[in-house]
Amino acid sequence: MRRPLVAGNWKMNGDSQSTVSLVNGIVDGRGDVTRAEVLICPPYILIPRAADALNGRDDIALGAQDLDINQNGAFTGQISASMLVDAGCTYVIVGHSERRAIYGESDQDVAEKFRVAQEGGLIPVLCVGETLEERESGDTENVVARQVQAVIDVVGIENFDNSVIAYEPVWAIGTGKTATPEMAQEVHKFIRDMLSALNKDIADQLRILYGGSMNAGNAESLIGMTDIDGGLIGGASLQPDSFLAICTAAN
Ligand code: 13P
Repeated sequence: MRRPLVAGNWKMNGDSQSTVSLVNGIVDGRGDVTRAEVLICPPYILIPRAADALNGRDDIALGAQDLDINQNGAFTGQISASMLVDAGCTYVIVGHSERRAIYGESDQDVAEKFRVAQEGGLIPVLCVGETLEERESGDTENVVARQVQAVIDVVGIENFDNSVIAYEPVWAIGTGKTATPEMAQEVHKFIRDMLSALNKDIADQLRILYGGSMNAGNAESLIGMTDIDGGLIGGASLQPDSFLAICTAAN
């Protein structure tokens, strides 16, 4: 039985004050959400603020939105896996479509980040997903398969046992357009089948999250699908009420 995971990707939003009130709001309202695992991924500089507000609670996990492939040294502006662990992170997002599209990260770069994250003791959340153009030209499965295969080629299927995949159709991110539960399920099943052909046990236990305009209103029907094990939430993770409603739906 896979434990659902609801992850908030705050992207480049917030400040010290909003971080403390958002974390407090999640902590206070979490209540009955015990089955679903809850993860928040603030901007780097706000991670220590969030950790302070959590005040030692480990029922809400902390993650980062990216990392560098190097351990330390002359890499101006970058943050390493060991720094994230030191700050209290257990997870890190790799290959978000915004990193791929805006900062030019290749499948190979993302695969290296996945490897370095795991080697550094972090659980990578690997994001994959097609653009609208790719979906309309019938390339969804090819794109997702290529993105997943690039990571398998670098780390091997056995290293997917301690990772998470997030399927985030690019056209659904921040647009208010959501994949229907059936559309999302089809891609989630495709990913699981692809991994299952290599290692059924690993595929069966791997959590595959959906991301892309998930909100309080659509979370239950999406997470209710067989191969959808939770969500990676952008906009709706910035308010305790909407984020907690999704956590409750996943629980
Ligand atoms: P939205 O929930 O704002 O569409 O963002 C999804 C996302 O990109 C999460 O990583």
